[in-house]
Amino acid sequence: MDFTLSEEQRMIQQAARDFAQNELLPGVIERDEAQRFPTEEVKKMGELGFMGMMVNPKYGGSGLDTLSYAIAVEELSKVDASASVIVSVNNSLVCWGLETFGSEAQKEKYLPRLTSGEIIGAFCLSEPEAGSDATSQKTTAIDKGDHYILNGTKNWITNGNSAEVYLVIAQTNVEKGYKGINALIVEKGVPGFEIGPKENKLGIRGSDTHSIMFNDVKVPKENRIGADGFGFKFAMKTLAGGRIGIAAQALGIAAGAYEMAKKYSKERKAFGTEIMNHQAIAFKLADMHTQIAAARHMVYKAAWDKDNGNDYDLSGAMAKLYASQVAMETTVEAVQVHGGNGFVKEYHVERLMRDAKITQIYEGTSEIQKIVISRSILRN
Ligand code: CAA
Ligand code: FAD
Repeated sequence: MDFTLSEEQRMIQQAARDFAQNELLPGVIERDEAQRFPTEEVKKMGELGFMGMMVNPKYGGSGLDTLSYAIAVEELSKVDASASVIVSVNNSLVCWGLETFGSEAQKEKYLPRLTSGEIIGAFCLSEPEAGSDATSQKTTAIDKGDHYILNGTKNWITNGNSAEVYLVIAQTNVEKGYKGINALIVEKGVPGFEIGPKENKLGIRGSDTHSIMFNDVKVPKENRIGADGFGFKFAMKTLAGGRIGIAAQALGIAAGAYEMAKKYSKERKAFGTEIMNHQAIAFKLADMHTQIAAARHMVYKAAWDKDNGNDYDLSGAMAKLYASQVAMETTVEAVQVHGGNGFVKEYHVERLMRDAKITQIYEGTSEIQKIVISRSILRN
């Protein structure tokens, strides 16, 4: 068992760390307050190869492994979880889904622009009545021979207004249940495509979350991903990898908060000494450090499973469940270590605490991860 990162992985870690410090940190508080999407920063991440990290270079990607991707998401998330979810959705839901299951023509048409940061993508599964219960799709894609007619509403769509390409899950044949679901590529702005207002969120406020409405949108058959009826499996298989990205995001949020709490504990004095010398504070840091180390092992193991052809449904779900719990607990404690300063924006930890919560909700809530985990362990 080798726990050492390769030279290349360490270089990517450093590059993501530098980018986060130099480019994301300066405007992160303002973007959070204004709910402003990091447009310029996303373009730069595209130029640096962060938007299509696992994609084959022949489609413009960086050709890296999942572990490198997880490490990069972790580093970006230490500073800006809004930027990292944009990266995560584009990499693991949109690019990976298209490259793994798309046709050659689809890959050639969309991947070069998605990997370069010229455009970004969105993944549209959730609906007002189909969140955790994802097979209950109400959006319909009626087969009209050479095209589908798409009707319905998707909600909570990350990159909702900023994306140009949307992977949309919809029901074609209701009698077949989830086996009648398809995944379609829809381009922004086609007739009948409408973007709802921006959600005003607790956290990850720099990412834009919108409902998307489809009113008789005509989608050519060549935009279907995979065979007829493959859409639900497409969503599940894609989300299995996506959960590793969100687990890495949770890990990064926790690690970022811990690093700030540790630094603060060495500077802030109370009762004549640095607060790190009070055991109550030192023990908090010990707990944080231990839990983050455990979460990191789980996240990297899930990424390693994916890179090595092992099943990663279970390890990815466990990593997301645990890392998101650690993110929540660590950020709450990091605010506590900062005292009153933890409650104000300049010290960043209150934002990380708000951002942490979403990692227990999206790409499958913690309860859904427990369903995935329990079904997997009880199957044999
Ligand atoms: N890989 C391949 N196939 C899978 C699969 C996987 N990981 N998980 C399920 N399937 C297959 C099943 O095998 C089954 O097919 P077969 O009958 O051929 O075996 C089919 O899918 C239906 O599965 P289930 O019977 O298990 O379906 P279910 O109704 O019990 O639901 C669920 C399963 C795991 C709860 C699923 O509905 C789920 O994951 N829900 C959560 C939805 C979710 O994660 N949404 C995220 C939206 S994207 C997002 O959130 C992005 C973001 O924020 C940034
Ligand atoms: P519900 O499914 O209504 O769940 C409510 C509660 O009931 C939860 O606690 C849940 O765990 C629990 N619950 C439900 N069923 C069960 C069960 N069987 N057993 C035990 N407990 C259960 N979706 C996309 O498709 N694309 C995106 O890009 C995207 N981005 C998002 C960004 C943000 C900021 C947010 C908030 C959401 C995003 N989502 C996205 C949607 C997200 O995936 C869903 O919110 C999530 O899957 C939960 O669905 P729901 O909100 O309908 O909650």
